Amino acid sequence: MCGIVGYVGGQPAQEFLLEGLRRLEYRGYDSAGVAALTPDRRLQVRRVAGRIERLEALLAESPLEGSVGIGHTRWATHGAAVEENAHPHLGGNDVVAVVHNGVIENFHELRAELEAEGYLFRSETDTEVVAHRLAAALEQQRDEWRHRRYTTAEFLTAVVRRALSAVRGTYGLAMLFRDFPDAIVVARLGSPLVIGVGDGEHFISSDAASLAGYTDQIVYLADHQVAVVTADRLHVSHRELGRIQPSVERLELTGNQVHADGFPNFMLKEIYEQAETVANAMRGRLSDEEATAVLGGLNLRPQQLRQINRLLLTGCGTSWHAALYGEYVIEELARLPVEVEYASELRYRNPPIDSHTLVFAISQSGETADTLAALREMKRKGHPTLAICNVVGSTIAQEADGGVYLHAGPEIGVASTKAYTAQCVVLALLALYFGRLRHLSYEAGRRIIDALRHLPEAVRRTLLVDDQVRSLAEKYYTRQNFLYLGRHYNFPTALEGALKLKEISYIHAEGYPAAEMKHGPIALVDEHTPSVFIMPRGWIYEKVLSNLLEIKARGGPVIAVCLENDERTADVADDVIRVPEVDDCLQPIVNVIPLQLLAYHIAILRGCDVDKPRNLAKSVTVE
Ligand code: G6P
Repeated sequence: MCGIVGYVGGQPAQEFLLEGLRRLEYRGYDSAGVAALTPDRRLQVRRVAGRIERLEALLAESPLEGSVGIGHTRWATHGAAVEENAHPHLGGNDVVAVVHNGVIENFHELRAELEAEGYLFRSETDTEVVAHRLAAALEQQRDEWRHRRYTTAEFLTAVVRRALSAVRGTYGLAMLFRDFPDAIVVARLGSPLVIGVGDGEHFISSDAASLAGYTDQIVYLADHQVAVVTADRLHVSHRELGRIQPSVERLELTGNQVHADGFPNFMLKEIYEQAETVANAMRGRLSDEEATAVLGGLNLRPQQLRQINRLLLTGCGTSWHAALYGEYVIEELARLPVEVEYASELRYRNPPIDSHTLVFAISQSGETADTLAALREMKRKGHPTLAICNVVGSTIAQEADGGVYLHAGPEIGVASTKAYTAQCVVLALLALYFGRLRHLSYEAGRRIIDALRHLPEAVRRTLLVDDQVRSLAEKYYTRQNFLYLGRHYNFPTALEGALKLKEISYIHAEGYPAAEMKHGPIALVDEHTPSVFIMPRGWIYEKVLSNLLEIKARGGPVIAVCLENDERTADVADDVIRVPEVDDCLQPIVNVIPLQLLAYHIAILRGCDVDKPRNLAKSVTVE
């Protein structure tokens, strides 16, 4: 979703702004813009509807001057994706330029007030009210300035606070003031912003990972903070606490983690990284001695955790699918009741939750608005909350009482792949951990640990099916509908396979529990509608095989993901993708990989942009 960048220092601002925006592209956007300021107070703005390449072309024709600038990628919420609605927006008599992430909830009222005062609106956005309010506050504060001895930073902070005092909603804001040409001002409430500290320069971004290679010294701005940033000074203040000393943290990333390396796009790179990311998710977290998982960040003592009699897992999209897998694996191994809730539902529902319930918010980005709101609601009710996040220092990670990081590295492709498998590994670790606190024997714990250790190698071998999956994609890529069917541990896998295909190829796909398909989806089966079966093993195998035969009997083509030695499925399915066998409870982590590849190759054959699918955003920071 929307992205913010900024630069103030000794270099031409345009260079970082463009590169920074490129790095934020993956979040999903539909227009882009930049603004820069020269020492002689020329505020220049360039904006385009569409991709960054168009902005780049525009800047080649009319470059920005100046070493102080801000930039934005917009994902439309208020008003269409046209140039007039792209950020930066100018306020008043073009005295201020603003870029904004988030949503101003009371913008209708504020706009009416400003229009009544004579401010002219040039866009349909909620952001423009902030621009005009800033211009108004600048005037009002100037009057006061005459009577008080303010520093420039104090003055600008006061202007921003005055402008935002009546604003309801969420924001990450970066602002340029025409008459203060050496500073960028940033403010945050509910939408992330970081300041990268360089040598005689500062960088602004809504995503710390985008600063990799520029600086590893990061200041995470917190809610209600305003910072006035110049080339060599940082003035940070908090609404209640006044001026504060910012704490500079080290960002552990290298520049090449945010490049597609030799891959044609990030999605394929990230699919291929999974042998490593699955290993990273469990690195240092397995104890042979105690036959359990070691999860240092839970911040709850084993005695406290032993009192927990129910888990509530919440998230959105792919993270919700991981939660569902978590329900199966935790209930099986730990015999601990688990409930899974869509965060968007949980935030407004009022389900009865007893005092022994532990809430987990699962989010790759750690910024998803609904997941954050659900977490806050659960905290407000006094429940202990933990986070399973990938992005270190993200809002959800910071606000939860503790949690477990995925350590999957930046995930840039909008459709989640490596974060999903890492989330499943972490949930399997939690199942082991809670299992060992409760009913799981030492021996069973050791068996799970062994199985986990074999997983990265199994993932590596699974990736060898890529060529075969590509040929399958050639056979099926023109189809309009797909069904994905799995059972038990692999029901969430079916949902995730269908979601991947939908997201990046725009083909309609439905995931269903295999046996449920008799109650509706079977009506869709014909010779044009392929069904992707995820074959289990054990006692449930026969049942799923019967479902598969029911589809065949109705003329539906069947693609089956099955184990390497499964000849019975191979005999009846039209196509099979064979995957290595791992422990039952970890098999979904292997099985999902061919489904990611299938979606990927079908999307490529249909000419889709897999990293930036239409209408979707990587991190959905609006409700
Ligand atoms: C968006 C993304 C999905 C993601 C979901 C939840 O819809 O496009 O890929 O699964 O948000 O994101 P989170 O960062 O909370 O896991």
